[in-house]
Amino acid sequence: MTGDLTCRADVEALLRRFYGRALVDELLAEPFTEVREQGLESHLPVMCDFWETVLFGTGTYRGSAFRVHQRVRSQHPFGAAHFDRWLELWHRTVDEMYAGPHADRAKVQGAGIATSMNRRLSGLPSVAAEALRLGIPGPAPSA
Ligand code: HEM
Repeated sequence: MTGDLTCRADVEALLRRFYGRALVDELLAEPFTEVREQGLESHLPVMCDFWETVLFGTGTYRGSAFRVHQRVRSQHPFGAAHFDRWLELWHRTVDEMYAGPHADRAKVQGAGIATSMNRRLSGLPSVAAEALRLGIPGPAPSA
């Protein structure tokens, strides 16, 4: 039986398995060149900060993930197909290791952030802005 994600150590274990796959994935390996070259160990603490903040509200991540990806993308172009693969690997890895409200949240937030990041990077309006324009109920505003 699988337990839920409960602490930073759980997040780190999840990220290790996820990046173990993403860094050698046939589609993601290229845009992840920097992480592979600098080594996962230097990347992990900031990723743990990010996911701890998303899942447990620790507020330990204070960067701008969007700006970082904007810069990465200017050197290694990536788009919708890459985000789809990212999400597929993320969901698969979460499901293999954890089950419960935090695991669900990791998947929902992963999908939401990947979608909004891809739209912003491609210069498309946000899903919420598009819903407003069409006059249909959109996603709840994010914090
Ligand atoms: C195709 C999809 C993606 C690619 C190719 C990608 C690639 C990268 C790369 C190369 C870095 C390292 C940049 C650096 O340290 O200089 C990075 C950092 C990061 N990524 Fe991604 N990423 C993707 C999707 C995502 C998604 C969906 C999330 C969140 C749900 C995310 C969260 C982060 C965070 C928090 C950082 C650290 C930012 C910082 O240093 O402040 N990434 N990503």
